[in-house]
Amino acid sequence: MRTPIVAGNWKMNKTIAEARELVNALRDELTRVAASGKAQVVLCPPFIAIPQVAALVKDTPIKVGAQNLFWEVKGAFTGEVAPTMLNEVCDYVIIGHSERRQYFGETDESVNKKVQAALAHHLIPIVCVGENLQQNEAGQTQAVVGAQVRAAFKEISRDDARGIVIAYEPIWAIGTGKAASGPGANAVIGLTIRGALADLYDEATAQAIRVQYGGSVTPKNVAEFFAQPEIDGALVGGASLVAADFIAICKAAVE
Ligand code: PGA
Repeated sequence: MRTPIVAGNWKMNKTIAEARELVNALRDELTRVAASGKAQVVLCPPFIAIPQVAALVKDTPIKVGAQNLFWEVKGAFTGEVAPTMLNEVCDYVIIGHSERRQYFGETDESVNKKVQAALAHHLIPIVCVGENLQQNEAGQTQAVVGAQVRAAFKEISRDDARGIVIAYEPIWAIGTGKAASGPGANAVIGLTIRGALADLYDEATAQAIRVQYGGSVTPKNVAEFFAQPEIDGALVGGASLVAADFIAICKAAVE
């Protein structure tokens, strides 16, 4: 049985003061959800707010994640943040979000390096994969997503692979208000993503790895995703910035 994981990706939103305000609004309800043991809850603020958020949830089962990392541990890499800096304050790290692939030159190769670095430093990677609209309409979803999964897991051992979280985020559904359908996302995750994992490792490993859905998840549509057998939680962008919405989504994961 896979425990669902609900992560809020705040993207480039919330100052330190605003982050504090949001966490104070979320903390009690999300603590109850996470303490039930039926779902994990993760907050992924911008780097600069991470220490503050981590301090605020320190005595709760709520976890903190970063939105990116660099693969080297220190040195002349101006503007980058090392896994050894993050693991003091984070348990998770989002890797290869489509916005990073699209605007900041992330490639399948850099995603793989980052996954390896995260694992080496005890951070749980949340690896994002997903096809764009053109690829979707051209019937290339399986090829694109399958290739992204194989590249991200390159040279990752079976034991390490089991600890990785995948987020299936069709790019056309991110921030558009146009979510995938529950059965549609379920099919991509079950056939394409778990299929690729079964090819790389074995069926048991493919079944053990948690795969979230992401893309315009709201309190209204979340039940449809959580009802799908292949979907293990959600990576939530816009709705994670609104306390009442993110609380409702997290609660739906344990209902
Ligand atoms: P969204 O973003 O929920 O605003 O669509 C999801 C994501 O990009 O992780």
